[in-house]
Amino acid sequence: MSNILAGKKGIIFGALDHQSIAWKVAERCVEEGAQIALTNAPVAMRMGEINALAEKCKAPVIAADATSLEDLENLFQKSMEHFGGKVDFVLHSIGMSVNVRKGKVYTDLNYEWMQKTFDVSAISFHKMMHVMWKLDAINDWGSIVGLTYIAAQRVFPDYSEMAESKALLESFARSFGYHFGTAKKVRVNTISQSPTMTTAGQGVKGFHEFFNYADKMSPLGNAPAEDCANYCIALFSDLTRYVTMQNLFHDGGFSTMGMNPAVLQ
Ligand SMILES: NC(=O)c1ccc[n+]([C@@H]2O[C@H](COP(=O)([O-])OP(=O)(O)OC[C@H]3O[C@@H](n4cnc5c(N)ncnc54)[C@H](O)[C@@H]3O)[C@@H](O)[C@H]2O)c1
Repeated sequence: MSNILAGKKGIIFGALDHQSIAWKVAERCVEEGAQIALTNAPVAMRMGEINALAEKCKAPVIAADATSLEDLENLFQKSMEHFGGKVDFVLHSIGMSVNVRKGKVYTDLNYEWMQKTFDVSAISFHKMMHVMWKLDAINDWGSIVGLTYIAAQRVFPDYSEMAESKALLESFARSFGYHFGTAKKVRVNTISQSPTMTTAGQGVKGFHEFFNYADKMSPLGNAPAEDCANYCIALFSDLTRYVTMQNLFHDGGFSTMGMNPAVLQ
């Protein structure tokens, strides 16, 4: 390990269990010398294993429903008290579709549930950055990363309303990236990750078949969660200071493929 994040402080949203992408990111941040705080929705903290991760990472756990401005303000205030200053990086690793969970098909969506989906999966990203802006919670040259999926640009029918959630999330990264970049040299990017065996991933219908399809389609195979964590570390580090307002594919080449003979075999 290179200690590439030595001296940096960050907040990791969305570690539910050891499969979570955020879990791997948290572990890698600490391995690279960062200090972190962990957060998740209160209900998820009761179900999940986050306390084991907190112990391993010597990190405080501060509950926050990412749709609540009040919870987010409390989270950033407490984190700054804990660190004795502002943060340098934040990972938004949150996604949930109410319609997918309740088995509603795309052609017959419940719009109240859709609004909840957008609030949790995308607007929470704007709210998080809004609170950071208001509290001046991030240092100059800091880095904010959100996780997304290629269904924001291409049609993956079973991804349902999460496709629009991700399109919104990616747009918030660009728009807030302008404001944060201009005011504070802070960068905002999204990483578009391969299908990954996690609780959120496996909630999508036909996920296992699709996972295998994407694996064959991608020249390098599906990118594992551990490698997604490595990419996050690169984006939190000072080696990527001029990368901002980008949607960065971390998918083994999937997004550039048209057809791969391996899929037909
Ligand atoms: N797994 C995949 O195939 C895949 C692919 C591309 C992108 N992603 C994205 O990666 C991110 C992380 O997902 P994951 O695959 O690690 O699954 P995960 O289920 O481990 O993580 C999702 C997290 O969102 C949290 N969450 C839900 N509602 C919340 C709320 N109101 N407030 C705060 N947190 C809340 C959950 O508690 C959970 O920790 C998501 O944005 C997901 O869409 C996943």
